[in-house]
Amino acid sequence: MTGLISHPVSSLKGVARAPGDKSISHRSLMFGALAEGETVISGLLNGEDVLHTGQALSAMGAEIHPATEPGGTWRVKGIGATGLKTPRNTVYLGNSGTSTRLLMGVVGGYPIHATFTGDASLSKRPMGRVIKPLAQMGVQFEASHGDMLPLKIIGSGQLRPIEYTLPVASAQVKSAILFAALHAEGETTVIEPEPTRDHTERMLRFFGAEIESRNDNGANIIKLKGLPRLTGQPVTVPSDPSSAAFLTVAALITKDSDILIPGVSVNPLRAGLYDTLRDMGADIVFENQRELSGEPVADIRVKSSALKGVTVPKSRVPSMIDEFPVLSVAASFAEGDTYMSDLKELRVKESDRLLAIAKGLTACGVLADMGDDDLTVHGRGQPPGGCMIAANLDHRIAMSFLVMGMATREAVSIDDAETMNTSFPGFAALMNSLGAKINPAA
Ligand code: S3P
Repeated sequence: MTGLISHPVSSLKGVARAPGDKSISHRSLMFGALAEGETVISGLLNGEDVLHTGQALSAMGAEIHPATEPGGTWRVKGIGATGLKTPRNTVYLGNSGTSTRLLMGVVGGYPIHATFTGDASLSKRPMGRVIKPLAQMGVQFEASHGDMLPLKIIGSGQLRPIEYTLPVASAQVKSAILFAALHAEGETTVIEPEPTRDHTERMLRFFGAEIESRNDNGANIIKLKGLPRLTGQPVTVPSDPSSAAFLTVAALITKDSDILIPGVSVNPLRAGLYDTLRDMGADIVFENQRELSGEPVADIRVKSSALKGVTVPKSRVPSMIDEFPVLSVAASFAEGDTYMSDLKELRVKESDRLLAIAKGLTACGVLADMGDDDLTVHGRGQPPGGCMIAANLDHRIAMSFLVMGMATREAVSIDDAETMNTSFPGFAALMNSLGAKINPAA
């Protein structure tokens, strides 16, 4: 493992493009593989999680041609009517919960079987939430104790449509059902009491499926007609708002900063962090708003800001579920308390993020109170820093604390730089191009 140290800096300035959106990248490879004809993807995230999705689909018969130069286009030749085939070997999915859960739904719809494994972090994550609805549709599973990986999925060419109300706000569970529903004759209905990111629905529509979403008293009701004909499409992946979040908070907490992050997805179901930071007093402007492959996109301009503590509305949690580590860092520079609740899902992310945030902030001299599913960060001026953070195979913990080190009194170190490659290859170099000082640890 390579460690990194992030030193305090005076300001960040310039234009920096955040990598492609992870959620949209996974889905564009999957839909490209399942459609008829060719899908050409530009802006695909070249991160390890997405590469695992690509390798898994290739092992099941899809023809995927990676970009031949950095930033180039990927080409996917779909298997369309011929179908996926049983992979010869176990499919290793690294750190990627999205690959695992979405591909469970993909495999489930074909008369094939596959065994999924992952790294130490992924092997501890719950899969029962996906097994349950897919089993109702007719997919069979052999899971390890506690419904975890390694997991064997035994698909079927003839699934049953279901009506399913999500017991947890999870776009991954919703998406797994929708992927399986492509192979169920009739209409599948998913009811989300708390709406989550809708990239799967948008992309299904874009590739030609009949899908309808409507809001009913705050709940989201999605209906998908099975056995559609999906046709390959050109996809442009916008920059990831969850990755742009690190650049944004870094610019807010450092002095005299002014940065522009072009082409970021500002899908309202992903933009909760930006709303929260604005509530805290942040100077963030979405410039040049437009649409790209069915997704709303903007250039995000961020300037240094004096922040104040806020209470995050519970209804906003799903739209910023990956951003609580970096919001907590922003909150530790704010004046006053920031209260975040309804955070149970953070316990089952790449690490127990609630614990990782509370422990990390405490180590850096910030007062933080953690409950079962809530967190209060007591902002009391510039935090001391001078701490070493264990990333525990969690890319977002690593990046959040490197951001913190840019504005604490003393530098902040992390023990594992490689983990950031899952979603943000080149994080340190990009930050340094704006004026950050992130170096290999001595
Ligand atoms: C994702 C959904 C979220 C999020 C993850 C990506 C997706 O997970 O945390 O990083 O692409 O569907 P949950 O579905 O577990 O909330």
